[in-house]
Amino acid sequence: MRLIFLGPPGAGKGTQAKLLTERYGIPQLSTGDMLRAAVAQATEVGKRAKAVMDAGQLVSDEIVNEIVSDRIDQADCAKGFILDGYPRTVPQAIALGKMLDGKGLKLDAVIELKVDEAALVKRMENRVAETIAAGGTVRSDDNPEAFKRRLTEYREKTAPLSEHYAGTGQLRTVDGMAEVNTVTAEIEKILA
Ligand code: AP5
Repeated sequence: MRLIFLGPPGAGKGTQAKLLTERYGIPQLSTGDMLRAAVAQATEVGKRAKAVMDAGQLVSDEIVNEIVSDRIDQADCAKGFILDGYPRTVPQAIALGKMLDGKGLKLDAVIELKVDEAALVKRMENRVAETIAAGGTVRSDDNPEAFKRRLTEYREKTAPLSEHYAGTGQLRTVDGMAEVNTVTAEIEKILA
């Protein structure tokens, strides 16, 4: 099974991808997590991505296309994978299409989580509060200024992907405002 999760920052892409990973035994490929790991390890990619991510902007298509292509080639992706946060621009979606064709692979579904903007801001605030309460490190882009920019980037560059995948007939939309378990149940119905 090969899936894409689309949705604005805080829509629940990561939450749902993690739950489905356990259910289907396939890995979650989060470009955000991969980039944060690169930043933490101060790799060349991490050094180039850090300031861009901190500002809430998108990292270049070139960088993310390459890290996803390399990741898909790893053995744990043989049965499938869940793309969380990729593609995020129409050029990334086109690159992914070519990448999958080149590897002889097909997508099974593109699932978009719809959540109101006010709820997204509240979720980001909750995540910050929960992280602090647990003694963890708050994400450097989970602050009002960077989050506003992340939403703008989403509206301008990522939202057009809905039309792109509606055009390919692969887009399915789920109400991401519902409780986590309800959202998972809706996704499982689509995948059944
Ligand atoms: P990334 O890490 O992908 O962040 P994001 O898309 O902004 O999304 P989040 O992780 O904030 O949200 P999510 O939808 O996964 O929601 P979550 O499940 O965590 O990207 C970060 C940065 O990396 C980008 O800004 C960019 O710079 C760079 N980047 C990454 N990919 C890139 C790409 N392809 N191209 C270019 N640059 C890229 O949930 C959020 C919170 O809500 C949690 O606290 C959760 O517990 C809660 N929650 C989840 N579901 C529900 C629910 N149903 N009800 C109530 N609360 C819920």
